[in-house]
Amino acid sequence: MLPLYFLALAAAARAALLKNGGLTDDRPSYDSPEDATYALVEPKLKTPWTDDVAADPDNVWPQYPRPLLRRDDWISLNGVWEFQFAATNSSDEVANPPVNTTLAQRILVPYCIESGLSGIALQSETHASWYRTSFEVPQSFDQNVTLHFGAVDYETTIFVNGVNVGSHTGGYDKFFFDVTSNIVKGGFNELIVYVYDPTDAISNRPMGKQRVVPSHIFYVPCSGIWQTVSIEAVPSTEYITNIDLRAAADGSVNATISTSNNGSSTPVEITFIDPIDGSQTFFSTSGTANTPFSFKVDPAPATWSPESPTLYNVTVAVGDDVAQTYTGFRTVERATVAGVPRFVLNGNPVFQFGPLDQGYWPDGLHSPPSYEAMVFDLQYLKNLGMNFVRKHIKVEPDLFYAAADSMGMIVMQDMPAMNNVDVSTITDEEQAEFERELDIIVQKHTSFPSILSFVIYNEGWGQIKSTPEIHLTDRVRELVAGHQLINSMSGWNDFAYQVFNISVGDYQDNHHYSSPQCGTPFVSAASVPYDGLRIGFQGEFGGVGHNVSIEHLWNDQEAIRAINETYEVDKTLEAWNYRALRVIEELREQTELFDCNGGVYTQTTDVEGEVNGFLTYDRAVSRVDEAEWKAAIAALYETFAAKVSGTQYL
Ligand SMILES: *[C@@H]1O[C@H](CO)[C@@H](O)[C@H](O)[C@H]1NC(C)=O
Ligand SMILES: *[C@@H]1O[C@H](CO)[C@@H](O)[C@H](O)[C@H]1NC(C)=O
Ligand SMILES: *[C@@H]1O[C@H](CO)[C@@H](O)[C@H](O)[C@H]1NC(C)=O
Ligand SMILES: *[C@@H]1O[C@H](CO)[C@@H](O)[C@H](O)[C@H]1NC(C)=O
Ligand SMILES: *[C@@H]1O[C@H](CO)[C@@H](O)[C@H](O)[C@H]1NC(C)=O
Ligand SMILES: *[C@@H]1O[C@H](CO)[C@@H](O)[C@H](O)[C@H]1NC(C)=O
Ligand SMILES: *[C@@H]1O[C@H](CO)[C@@H](O)[C@H](O)[C@H]1NC(C)=O
Ligand SMILES: *[C@@H]1O[C@H](CO)[C@@H](O)[C@H](O)[C@H]1NC(C)=O
Ligand SMILES: *[C@@H]1O[C@H](CO)[C@@H](O)[C@H](O)[C@H]1NC(C)=O
Repeated sequence: MLPLYFLALAAAARAALLKNGGLTDDRPSYDSPEDATYALVEPKLKTPWTDDVAADPDNVWPQYPRPLLRRDDWISLNGVWEFQFAATNSSDEVANPPVNTTLAQRILVPYCIESGLSGIALQSETHASWYRTSFEVPQSFDQNVTLHFGAVDYETTIFVNGVNVGSHTGGYDKFFFDVTSNIVKGGFNELIVYVYDPTDAISNRPMGKQRVVPSHIFYVPCSGIWQTVSIEAVPSTEYITNIDLRAAADGSVNATISTSNNGSSTPVEITFIDPIDGSQTFFSTSGTANTPFSFKVDPAPATWSPESPTLYNVTVAVGDDVAQTYTGFRTVERATVAGVPRFVLNGNPVFQFGPLDQGYWPDGLHSPPSYEAMVFDLQYLKNLGMNFVRKHIKVEPDLFYAAADSMGMIVMQDMPAMNNVDVSTITDEEQAEFERELDIIVQKHTSFPSILSFVIYNEGWGQIKSTPEIHLTDRVRELVAGHQLINSMSGWNDFAYQVFNISVGDYQDNHHYSSPQCGTPFVSAASVPYDGLRIGFQGEFGGVGHNVSIEHLWNDQEAIRAINETYEVDKTLEAWNYRALRVIEELREQTELFDCNGGVYTQTTDVEGEVNGFLTYDRAVSRVDEAEWKAAIAALYETFAAKVSGTQYL
């Protein structure tokens, strides 16, 4: 795979890099960088997928990564790359990429540097790293070539054949560069990636649950490349860079097709494929690139809902470029039903019930070991009868949302929180960066039919007290333009309401472990009473714990020590099922008696020192009594249906 002409580093220089790079443990060392090989570093816990993934490193995450903008001519660059911690974090270091220089270690892309699957499983003392690989661009890529990264945490600079082609900041969003003028077709090309990711060590930034020193509800950080890297062939004249389709239940569609030439007004042809007979056109229309346009699909399309998640494949053609996408027709509203604000999908009040979904993996951390592993979690939840996940202060690969779209799982998408430090320490620059990344994350996810709500703040983490939730809610509302609802503050810190009596956002979201307080006239001291103006919602509850044997635990001393910080650890599985179902029954009672519209049970899986999952962290043991849980979940939906039936939808 690696071209032989790359020069070796002088031994002395290499020794210096190893020392500075903090490679201080007893991992194998090699006589020369050329001899380095990839090997799994045994994670503190494996999943059923770990060994298969590590055994076939040339074939990791082979799926096309961008389901909303698909082209046929592409190549995955995932696999074993060269790797080395950078000696320093300085502009000098970045200005001098290790061109034509073999690096000391091997990493499996796309797994976080700190993960076992990466083969590195260490944190860098400099918080900075170099990656290096080579790739061939086939002659068949006869026009332009784009280089895509699914996500790299946190600041990235990319070099192709020694040339700096661009930088990116933000650990959760995809980006690409047109590298046509930097590459050689039919021959090898060198790709070098510099990554700087201090997590919480130096300053505040969107980081979710990552911490350099993890403990209890905070986890090992994920640095570097953690989603698929690929190249793609695109036309040289003009190509599509984003397809934004927002389709409503009545068949109306708002479309914006962005292209590489953002000033162009090239005609766009859009063709909806029949969802049953894929050889038939259902509807077609035209518009103009880089200008929003609207149309109404005729005949009336089937709608998207959790029970019937119909999706329409769509072909979008602009000039020489033809790309595939899909959409689902659905309308989400906060609407008043018999005097009570409800979550209304396609005209029907819907009860959203599902887990707090962290999306962490003991072998890949932020990177699910495989597509199959990622989808396993969603299928497990769907099988228990849940219609919803709250994707908790993390963003997943686009394929996660595509799976939720096709499976019929509603997603409430959180913005990854900044560090939950004293909010008075947050600088204007940090706040501006949070707001910049919020904009981007919302814009890059609005077109997924399954995402029905965005969360801006979680439990006040990084939420400064000058009530930015007011202008951020306005901003997100402008971006989503009616296509999603907004949960401005999930849990407690409803400053705008407390200080100014302004009810911000579509939800009033209570967190209370263990007993829910969902749309109830009673709340504990930390919460504010239900205002009757927003959708009463239980954004977190449950969290009942049950310890397991060491074979299913994250085998880390600090994590095991923190297990007793789980507020309740039940002795037996019978006790755990009794307790968890008891708090779900409380949610059902509150749905019957008060104004509850859904709940988020903590959580899908155990994570590190948390032992409160439906599943253990390795996904090997399911704690739930399946029959009882299915009945309890069905009862929630039945109670809600009875509560809203016969009421007048206004
Ligand atoms: C080095 O760290 C500083 C402080 O966090 C950061 O602002 C800067 O971007 C980093 N430099 C590089 C070259 O990544
Ligand atoms: C890297 O090596 C290749 C092959 O020897 C050579 O063509 C290229 O110019 C070198 N690049 C740099 C920046 O030295
Ligand atoms: C294609 O690549 C060439 C060479 O870099 C560049 O000049 C041109 O702008 C690219 N085309 C588009 C549509 O960006
Ligand atoms: C389309 O845009 C209009 C105007 O912003 C908005 O009222 C409507 O709800 C949008 N429809 C969809 C499906 O997003
Ligand atoms: C359009 O392209 C110009 C030049 O590349 C850039 O400065 C501008 O920000 C782009 N506008 C949008 C809306 O992307
Ligand atoms: C829609 O596209 C997907 C992905 O290419 C394909 O698997 C599916 O069969 C298509 N559906 C129809 C009805 O053509
Ligand atoms: C708070 O606002 C609501 C309407 O938004 C109003 O009915 C109520 O009187 C206000 N309360 C106070 C204390 O100002
Ligand atoms: C949980 O189980 C592990 C190993 O099975 C044990 O070491 C630990 O002490 C237990 N912790 C609690 C709080 O029960
Ligand atoms: C958990 O156990 C440690 C000792 O192992 C103890 O210091 C700590 O107070 C305990 N915490 C709780 C919440 O019980």
